[in-house]
Amino acid sequence: MQKIDINNKTLFVTGSAGFIGSNLVKRLFKDVKGATIVCIDNVNDYYDVSLKEYRLRELDKAKPADVEYVFIKGDIADKATIDGIFEQYKPAVVVNLAAQAGVRYSITNPDAYIQSNLIGFYNILEACRHYPVEHLVYASSSSVYGSNKKVPYSTDDKVDNPVSLYAATKKSNELMAHAYSKLYNIPSTGLRFFTVYGPAGRPDMAYFGFTNKLVKGDTIQIFNYGNCMRDFTFVDDIVEGVVRIMQGAPEKKQGEDGLPLPPYAVYNIGNNSPENLLNFVDILQQELIRAKVLPEDYDFDAHKQLVPMQPGDVPTTYADTSALERDYGFKPSTSLRDGLRAFAEWYAGFYQ
Ligand SMILES: NC(=O)c1ccc[n+]([C@@H]2O[C@H](COP(=O)([O-])OP(=O)(O)OC[C@H]3O[C@@H](n4cnc5c(N)ncnc54)[C@H](O)[C@@H]3O)[C@@H](O)[C@H]2O)c1
Repeated sequence: MQKIDINNKTLFVTGSAGFIGSNLVKRLFKDVKGATIVCIDNVNDYYDVSLKEYRLRELDKAKPADVEYVFIKGDIADKATIDGIFEQYKPAVVVNLAAQAGVRYSITNPDAYIQSNLIGFYNILEACRHYPVEHLVYASSSSVYGSNKKVPYSTDDKVDNPVSLYAATKKSNELMAHAYSKLYNIPSTGLRFFTVYGPAGRPDMAYFGFTNKLVKGDTIQIFNYGNCMRDFTFVDDIVEGVVRIMQGAPEKKQGEDGLPLPPYAVYNIGNNSPENLLNFVDILQQELIRAKVLPEDYDFDAHKQLVPMQPGDVPTTYADTSALERDYGFKPSTSLRDGLRAFAEWYAGFYQ
């Protein structure tokens, strides 16, 4: 492991108006000293733009005096923009979180995935090739495990059977990163995030969408008749993992042929404790009442419908986090109760 000091360095974060990106930058503001943090996001309207603008305003407020913060509204799929940023700032560590997320949207809007996740990521790789970086960290996804049956999911498992275009683009990112690590000796680490949730999260995800619907008095649909298991991971745990990983890159080594061995790694970041969707909804309901988002006498049964599995979805996600613990001494641990409480309290303050 090559240790990296992220103080007094230039760090480049893509997708900084996004859920995970904005939380990461806020955390970097607290942790790093004397750094320049360059961020990009195209602030697209895949979901409510006002939420992205809110996160950006929070970042403006949180910026400490000893950190330089540059936000660029731009598209990672635009090569000239990315090249211009690397030319001007020459970042030491890059964290690529910008992507078209979501499994179901990839059925109706495949173009967005090819643009952001493939062309965008390729532009980042090419820039890292021409302006060498100490570490490229990028978001992959638990969805690469597709319909694998063996649990918990390990990064040693074969992941060649994606069941959505989204998953296929994320697996492609890992393959592209491997080739660039090998060819150009770029230290890269891919992170397979498992169902991330928390305050100011993504409205397209179940916990947030359920809440919006229940507030409006609509009926929520629980897929696979509630028999889905998800390794729900609180956003602070994801951010803790990313910050640790930014500071430890796979080491550069020479192979027997005199050429570099790829300084390449992939880790799971998940809670290592899958929850049944019905239990999850139950805790969410209790926390929404506690935060006064919903009244005590809310008739949940009248607003719940159990429906079949959706195309592109998988029945179970469950992260094996032993490699993360071994190499970075960390494993997510926030309970669903604490995490959903934080979400419900934020929701109450933001919308009501
Ligand atoms: N949230 C999860 O549960 C989860 C799980 C697995 C993987 N991930 C991955 O983690 C990363 C962050 O996810 P998130 O939940 O914060 O999603 P998000 O949609 O909130 O954040 C992504 C951000 O990237 C921006 N973006 C998208 N395409 C862009 C482009 N071409 N150029 C510039 N900006 C662009 C969006 O405007 C958005 O603000 C993504 O790569 C996602 O695929 C998330």
